[in-house]
Amino acid sequence: MKVTDIIEKTFNKIELTEEEISFLIQEYTNNQIPDYQMSSWLMCVRFNGLSEKETYFLTKAMIESGDVIDLSFIDGIKVDKHSTGGVGDKTSLVLGPLAASCGNIMAKLSGRGLGHTGGTIDKLESIPGLNTNLSDEKFTDQINKIHIAIAGQTKNLVPADKKLYALRDVTQTVNSLPLITSSIMSKKIASGADVICLDVKYGSGAFMKTTEDAIKLSEAMINIAHKFDKKVICFITDMEHPLGKGIGNRIEVIDAVNCLQNKGPKDLEDLCVTICGYMNYYSNITKSVEDGMKLALEKLRDFSAYNKFIEMIQMQGAKVTNFDNFIEAKKVIPLLSKSEGYISRIDALSLGLIALELGAGRETKEDIIDPNVGLYLNKQIGEYVTRGDILLYIYANDKWSDDIIDRLYLAYKFSSEAKEEKPIIYKIIE
Ligand code: URA
Repeated sequence: MKVTDIIEKTFNKIELTEEEISFLIQEYTNNQIPDYQMSSWLMCVRFNGLSEKETYFLTKAMIESGDVIDLSFIDGIKVDKHSTGGVGDKTSLVLGPLAASCGNIMAKLSGRGLGHTGGTIDKLESIPGLNTNLSDEKFTDQINKIHIAIAGQTKNLVPADKKLYALRDVTQTVNSLPLITSSIMSKKIASGADVICLDVKYGSGAFMKTTEDAIKLSEAMINIAHKFDKKVICFITDMEHPLGKGIGNRIEVIDAVNCLQNKGPKDLEDLCVTICGYMNYYSNITKSVEDGMKLALEKLRDFSAYNKFIEMIQMQGAKVTNFDNFIEAKKVIPLLSKSEGYISRIDALSLGLIALELGAGRETKEDIIDPNVGLYLNKQIGEYVTRGDILLYIYANDKWSDDIIDRLYLAYKFSSEAKEEKPIIYKIIE
């Protein structure tokens, strides 16, 4: 089999066979195909897409490139959640403990952030002492004891995706529906959960810029999940503006802890309660999604979810459980409103990129993040402000450029009329 023939077929929109796709992935993972040939194939895929069958074969080949986690020795239905990536997305920090406090089993493997989107592991590791590098024994022991563990992905889980993602990142081929589908679904299926909730973001801060594209991605992922006998529910959610108030690692931990202590932010709470409602139903904990959401709200309100979060972080080594003076930034700068009116836009991508520039994220995998920096919204979308009101706080250390302030102002738009509040969830597809 010749790689050039495979590239030529995809260039000419001729469907590849399972053997061809399997060869491509296996050989690339084993360093037998150079990056320049793989880049060429990826760009053909970005232009021409892949058929449903090819996307399935690609996902399968990627799963087979490494280990598949077997959770069958843990009793009960295992749930998992994954986000396609956004700005201020700390959902897992709230949803994980909430779901576990309802009785779900949450064996979650999470990733690190890259670019303007953050990663759960970086956020958790911003808590001093907390270890996400759990051995298999520790991971399963913790799940058996407290029903939740959040760990970093093991080295050999879908190694093909690790190599491919790094290449896609530098060849402008991340944004391709079949490549995103196979990348996400291979990892989720290899992670071993029975019920997978996918938070599919749309908007400026997301890969999918429109609801139409987010729906297409959801349908493609559901299609793949069914072929592997997995239950997938897609929640299409708004990423035009940041989720919650915090963007940055420790800042997002604070946002999550506030939410677990029933202090909002409301968009984050609504999202977590709804997803947890579905988890409760599909784990047979409740008889309906409505009852599932009721139970989730009860467990949030009576602090069971908060207590579960503390239990989880302590079991993973956290030395801090009080987050009152958690952030150590040299500068805390308030951004004062120059306008009056209802906030009609807070551009997620702009804020995500500024948080990245402050050091909250990494541009390359080798970059070291600063857990203390980021942005904290004092006012969220739809709120009324007058001139001089604080729009947000900037937490900065050494990385600073004076035009950040001007660029932050450009991310905002105001309107003289109040708009109807847009729900965080646009659509749920099962
Ligand atoms: N998240 C992933 O895991 N993979 C992609 O390709 C895009 C988002």
